[in-house]
Amino acid sequence: MSRLRDFYRPADADELRAPLEVNALCEQAIAFTAPKWKANARATGVTIAVNTDFTEVPHIRASAPELRESLTNLIFNAVDAMPSGGTITVSTRADGPNVRINVTDTGTGMTEAEASRCLEPFFSTKGDKGTGLGLAVVYGIVQRHGGTIEIASEEGTGTTFSLLLPATDQTASASGAADESAVNRMLSVLVVDDQEIICELIAAHLSADGHQPVTVSDAAEALARFEAGSFDLVITDQSMPGISGEQLAKKIKERSPGTHIIMLTGFGDDLFPDGKVPEGIGRVLSKPVSSDDLRRAIFEVTS
Ligand SMILES: Nc1ncnc2c1ncn2[C@@H]1O[C@H](COP(=O)(O)OP(=O)(O)OP(=O)(O)O)[C@@H](O)[C@H]1O
Ligand SMILES: [Mg+2]
Repeated sequence: MSRLRDFYRPADADELRAPLEVNALCEQAIAFTAPKWKANARATGVTIAVNTDFTEVPHIRASAPELRESLTNLIFNAVDAMPSGGTITVSTRADGPNVRINVTDTGTGMTEAEASRCLEPFFSTKGDKGTGLGLAVVYGIVQRHGGTIEIASEEGTGTTFSLLLPATDQTASASGAADESAVNRMLSVLVVDDQEIICELIAAHLSADGHQPVTVSDAAEALARFEAGSFDLVITDQSMPGISGEQLAKKIKERSPGTHIIMLTGFGDDLFPDGKVPEGIGRVLSKPVSSDDLRRAIFEVTS
């Protein structure tokens, strides 16, 4: 459902769009999708190579998580289109007023009819294995960024999806580093909730945005993990058996004052009735948490 909501979501707030380094973002998307094209492919005995062909391109003004999600969807589709292996090439070019990002595969290709319908929501040739939302989400994102998608596909030869996104003459550093680091940095995140399903949901939102979540189901374990690893952000439930989220937050802040904390509260919890958020907690979110709420909260606590 969150993907549907993403698809129909109105334009992103402009403050979430920092000038973005396209090549670095492509690298992140490739790294993030590596489990799918490397390990999965190896397990089934096929080899998929991912090549890059980057050139120096201008920055684009874009939401890094959204662009990363778009590229991820294109790469996943490319992998699906190469059941017996092949090569994916991600290339970047300056193209008039735009930056062009090409994702090319040497897969099955599409018929003309498929190519003309593939951006439609729920259009899929994958049966149970596809929802048909991947490209619809990409289309929505690219549109909101004032860009366009080009598709070149030949049956039996392969497919190239191109995203054309308006270049900006602003550079990342000129717009203020705070902006950039908040939106574009991959964060390592400790997620603490005694309900496993909530952990999974939050972790899925985080992964989709290119962050690295670690989930644990109680505060004692969270503290142990926190000591052992280095986390930029802790997202914790408030009411848990044993140590509460608030106590956990306090302990984490004592050990590492620079770590950001977001607290989750359950339905009906009247925890901070006068709006006074306990010290050290950057933001309180009530469950259920949408990917938008989470993205915004992360943006706020880290900037
Ligand atoms: N690189 C590609 N090569 C061949 N066909 C493709 C490629 N990318 C997309 N398609 C076709 O377009 C259809 C729609 O793609 P889309 O990503 O929207 O949905 P899906 O991959 O089927 O499911 P989901 O992405 O929701 O898991 C695919 O089912 C497939 O037929
Ligand atoms: Mg797909």
